[in-house]
Amino acid sequence: MNVPHSDALVFFGATGDLAYKKIFPSLQAMIKRGHLNVPVIGVAKAGWNIDQLRARARDSVEKHGGGVEPAAFDKLCSLLRYVDGDYKDAATFQTIRKELGSAERPAHYLAIPPALFGLVVEQLTKARCTSGARVIVEKPFGHDLISAQELNRILLGTFDEEHIFRIDHYLGKRPVRNMVFLRFENAILESFWNRNQVESVQITMAEAFGVQGRGAFYDQTGAIRDVVQNHLFQILVNLAMEPPVRTDSETIRDEKVKVLKAIRPLEAKNLVRGQFRGYRKENGVAPDSKVETFAALQLNVDSWRWQGVPFYIRAGKSLPVTRTEIVVRLREPPVVFPTCCRARNYFRFCVSPNVTAAVGLTVMDQQEKMIGEQVELLASHYPGAEETDAYERVLGDAMAGDATLFAREDYVEEAWRIVDSALKAGTPVYEYEPSTWGPSDVDQKVSPPGGWHNPMVSK
Ligand code: BG6
Repeated sequence: MNVPHSDALVFFGATGDLAYKKIFPSLQAMIKRGHLNVPVIGVAKAGWNIDQLRARARDSVEKHGGGVEPAAFDKLCSLLRYVDGDYKDAATFQTIRKELGSAERPAHYLAIPPALFGLVVEQLTKARCTSGARVIVEKPFGHDLISAQELNRILLGTFDEEHIFRIDHYLGKRPVRNMVFLRFENAILESFWNRNQVESVQITMAEAFGVQGRGAFYDQTGAIRDVVQNHLFQILVNLAMEPPVRTDSETIRDEKVKVLKAIRPLEAKNLVRGQFRGYRKENGVAPDSKVETFAALQLNVDSWRWQGVPFYIRAGKSLPVTRTEIVVRLREPPVVFPTCCRARNYFRFCVSPNVTAAVGLTVMDQQEKMIGEQVELLASHYPGAEETDAYERVLGDAMAGDATLFAREDYVEEAWRIVDSALKAGTPVYEYEPSTWGPSDVDQKVSPPGGWHNPMVSK
């Protein structure tokens, strides 16, 4: 189906952190590739003028966009407009309408806190800015199931689902998209990708840094809401989904939702939460905070393919490395050499910072004692400078009307359903030392057969 491209981009929160770190660099990159040639209207309440916004854009691309590309940046400046005003004030939206000129299909990007979505959507409607429009919203999409349903109600009151683009930038990462490609373009994987061969699946998102000045946000959020319920569920779904019968966005998203539907709600006993020592001293964090900076959990996917195979997810800040890695462990083979260490074969897939696909095998040890030795067949790809950034990808797709990489209403609500009651159970938060693999309780309470695989920096 041919859908029309958005003919203007309005982004709310133009003077904010996300615009500074991600949006301006993406806009410059889109222009450089010839993917953006429509008015870009920044909106914020900062008392700024257009020159200040341009200066901010320059600083942003210098610090976060690999530097100013003179031709692309000049073009960005010529496309850029700025509307300064309060979101409560109807005049702000009348000015937006004026700036939109003859544009009939604007994309409104709400890079603002979700508490403001209702107000902004209402004002856009009153100012006649929503007909033919798309709306792009940032995570976190809600705080729990009820608030996500409420946000959906607000957006769906004005926009059709096909015009709503809920960003999860992890889906824009090339290695994450590559997971689906690799799974369905290689016959070899399908032969063992099921409950008969797979013993367990583990997904680790390790970050070697803390909350990086985002204490106030993080202390309202925690690891489960920040990255597990969205980014890591997307990875789980890519691993577990059935092959789509067509590659249009709805068919692919249908398959993804089916995986979530098959997952039982997370039980409190299958969750360990941790907090790194020193977190409570971060700016914006409550001195007695019970918010987790680490979570390890076990889920079960009750589908024909996966029933009985535990899926483990682990995510944390202040861990020893920055890396997101998946290990699919196979069942042990029958015994032939009784002396052998009997390590399990596995498939390892790294999605950040670089793409790695590896198969772990046992070969005869050098000393020929028949103990066995572990080796990996390895395929790696280190992204070059020209790699499309995740934000550039999702922003470009939203403006082009391709919804494949965006979370649909039913997906978001299913994802919240899985974590909702465990989040509210008030499970203990164990302290862990920075640069370790989280609290030691994890190994007793939520640990895959054969233990956690701790990603290393070098591979
Ligand atoms: C964001 C989270 O969504 O994703 C951050 O809010 C996290 O806490 C980040 O660090 C990780 O994404 P990336 O692309 O930097 O690996």
